[in-house]
Amino acid sequence: MVKPKIAPSMLSSDFANLASEAERMLQCGADWLHMDIMDGHFVPNLTIGAPVIESLRKHTKAYLDCHLMVSNPLDYVEPLGKAGASGFTFHIEASKDNWKELVQLIKSKGMTPGVSLKPGTPIEDLYPLLEDENPVELVLVMTVEPGFGGQKFMPEMMDKVRTLRKNYPSLDIEVDGGLGPSTIDMAASAGANCIVAGSSVFGASDPAQVISLLRKSVED
Ligand code: DX5
Ligand code: ZN
Repeated sequence: MVKPKIAPSMLSSDFANLASEAERMLQCGADWLHMDIMDGHFVPNLTIGAPVIESLRKHTKAYLDCHLMVSNPLDYVEPLGKAGASGFTFHIEASKDNWKELVQLIKSKGMTPGVSLKPGTPIEDLYPLLEDENPVELVLVMTVEPGFGGQKFMPEMMDKVRTLRKNYPSLDIEVDGGLGPSTIDMAASAGANCIVAGSSVFGASDPAQVISLLRKSVED
């Protein structure tokens, strides 16, 4: 079985205290830290880039799971590799013509390549990346329109997760958007093992309890 990975989305943290927020999440049992990189173009919101990842890296050894919501992911590979990113997950909608080059470059910089898709994009678009001789190692299924935290989970995306899990038993399948105690069972039973959660974790009075609940649901 694939291992559960609980990844609090640092988008919901206090960015002015990023290092201590990251440490707090790790103390609460987080496996990964999910870092949402947005360029204000691919999505209508602007967040952080390589300089912030580099700063955070000086304070933590944690796996930095970077989710690139940008129009030109290729431009980010070298800087993020240098900055100390661990995973580099790009969007298929932004890399239709150059995903092969992108995956190769991500690996050559020592990061784990992943691909994500928006709610309106069919999973068939990902098969070439999974069947390639140099495949992506993670699929991030968006369960909201990318851009903002705190949106409502889209249960209809679970068909994508189910189909992927059936075809790829050992693939890391990540879900992102609206995950929390009331939606985790749908995602876990569909076959997701990497769980991104922003507002449900940061908004909780006991984040450790929420993280452990999310993990339990994936394990069961
Ligand atoms: C949205 C981001 C998510 C977001 C999730 O575009 O990719 O990672 O922070 O936040 P919640 O868990 O609040 O939906
Ligand atoms: Zn994300």
